[in-house]
Amino acid sequence: MPTMLGAVAFAFALAISCWANAATPPAVAVAATATATATVTATRDEDRIAYPSGYTRWTHIRSGLITAKHPAFPRFGGLHHIYANPGSLEGYRSGRYADGSVLVYDLFETRDHGDGIVDQGPRRQIDVMVKDSKRFAATGGWGYAEFAVGTTTDRLSNADRDGCAACHASRKQHGHVFSEWPNRAEPRAGES
Ligand code: HEC
Repeated sequence: MPTMLGAVAFAFALAISCWANAATPPAVAVAATATATATVTATRDEDRIAYPSGYTRWTHIRSGLITAKHPAFPRFGGLHHIYANPGSLEGYRSGRYADGSVLVYDLFETRDHGDGIVDQGPRRQIDVMVKDSKRFAATGGWGYAEFAVGTTTDRLSNADRDGCAACHASRKQHGHVFSEWPNRAEPRAGES
């Protein structure tokens, strides 16, 4: 686990410049969605990724905490859990993700109870990656989406998605996926 946290910290350090270009903060993104239908950066409906229904029953890959000290906090701060659909698990082993792989970054606020206990608060958003090497060839074969709480429509613009893809491209050797799966060596029978 320390190794992985180190790797993530390293990735974030490498990717600091990405954050400047990364997706717009949530409030701005919502405003942009309302007004951007006529702009060239608006995401066309046919490019949008479907909401990944039932993802919390998929395989839990790992969890992590991004605190206010980190530059990523405004966009991705809080407690996150990463879930992977059955078709993506082989990718976690080999680094080559099959078309149809779906990964979800499920982000929650944290609540500090002041007595030494910090737990999971309300959900903030989910971020999603879908592998389709033809459809998303321009972004390393992965499509990127983000869903606000209570919505099932991707709120990212194309510019936002380029920001996601640019940072994830720093993990090209690992199929553009940052997280590693600690249980990947366990018997496959337990996966479904
Ligand atoms: C500056 C770098 C950076 C940017 C920009 C970024 N991510 Fe990530 N993303 C990460 C890191 C690092 C992790 C791994 C977190 C962990 O292992 O706990 C991650 C994890 C994920 C995961 C889980 C799969 C994986 O790669 O581990 C998804 C899904 C995801 N991000 C979607 C998105 C979406 C959608 C966007 C754009 C809105 C985005 N990301 C923008 C760095 C970034």
